[in-house]
Amino acid sequence: MAKSAIMLKDYLSDIDFHSIYKYLVGGNNYISHPEIVNIDSKSFFSLQMRAANVPVILDLLLLLNDVDLKSLSPNEIELACQLAKENFITIDNGVCKTLGYQLISFNDFYLLIDGRINFQALGFHRSYIGVDSYLMLYYISRNKFNQNSVCLDICSGTGIGALFAALFSKNVTAIEIDDFAINLINFNRALNFKENEIKIINHDLFKFNYPQNHYDLITCNPPFVLIPDEFGGPLYAKGFGKDGLDHLRFLVKNAEFWLKNNGVAYYIVDLLGDDSNPFFIKELEKLASSSNIEITVFIDNKLDARINIKALTSICYNLNPEINRDVIRQKVSTLIVKELGASHYYLSTIMIAKNSNKNGLRIFNRQKFLTSDGKFKNVVSLPTT
Ligand SMILES: C[S@@+](CC[C@H](N)C(=O)[O-])C[C@H]1O[C@@H](n2cnc3c(N)ncnc32)[C@H](O)[C@@H]1O
Repeated sequence: MAKSAIMLKDYLSDIDFHSIYKYLVGGNNYISHPEIVNIDSKSFFSLQMRAANVPVILDLLLLLNDVDLKSLSPNEIELACQLAKENFITIDNGVCKTLGYQLISFNDFYLLIDGRINFQALGFHRSYIGVDSYLMLYYISRNKFNQNSVCLDICSGTGIGALFAALFSKNVTAIEIDDFAINLINFNRALNFKENEIKIINHDLFKFNYPQNHYDLITCNPPFVLIPDEFGGPLYAKGFGKDGLDHLRFLVKNAEFWLKNNGVAYYIVDLLGDDSNPFFIKELEKLASSSNIEITVFIDNKLDARINIKALTSICYNLNPEINRDVIRQKVSTLIVKELGASHYYLSTIMIAKNSNKNGLRIFNRQKFLTSDGKFKNVVSLPTT
């Protein structure tokens, strides 16, 4: 077990990091999500932290700023030296410097993440966390589970899904293929004192020997981003297959066999579609009508595909700087718009409940009621006085 994780856990508990974090991200009515403390909001949070007299070491751990060793207490210096020894930070001429790790809090557990996702100037991130990671967990009804519930978090990343399940269950398994992410899950498991509750398996999700009729809860935020094969793409993002959804297909198709009766699986993905619905709904319809599962799709966001094409072009260009940016944009756009006929992306949480008496598909798509100016149709205004 990493010694720095144990020292950090004791220190964070001592300063009541969760309360500090809740206070900070609550400022300015910011909702809490993993991207909130980032390069753009850094100065806002820095001011809040000085005004609240928050320990200076959090400048390093939360804002990824340099911190002078002299400004730390003896206890904090010891912690910083151990973090440096285990390569989470460096210490150079008496100054503590980030190596890209960021510490956040979620549902009262500590989470060390790859902070480069929020501070891009530090380089490419190796591990993913985003709003979708929080959204999928938001939909889980915790009262359906107890300490004996058998839980599986596939594509665990930072371990956020496994740690969430360990809030109620003593029997959680995290599957992850990438070594960088495995190290993070290990660290986060120790940081939250969940060694006995969470088992970590370094494996390919497609090749794992899943026990049948076994799980009460399965969670997964798989890679799903459709990137033309010739441009490569990061392991945490690049989806397989003609539409990037082959990880999801595998997970959806097998949920019925992996879950116990009354078990539930939650998967979150961006689905390509036309103006009214994601294309994948047709496949879900077919599956739900031919098996003992009830599928509910919660659609929380609808994005014009052109916005994503722009973002994808940047990702592909960063990976292939020798290729002309316009050529990349054209290829990405041809794949999404011409070959697949998509005009929108839908951020969707797919809930699959196994129940021998029920099947079918429910779609909760509030995006259908949006007008072109982004407002909801037929909304009754509340009186203001
Ligand atoms: C989109 S990230 C999700 C991370 C995390 N669960 C979350 O929601 O914040 C996808 C994760 O799946 C992992 N992954 C990709 N391919 C995999 C595979 N074949 N088997 C297991 N894990 C895989 C990646 O390394 C990455 O950590």
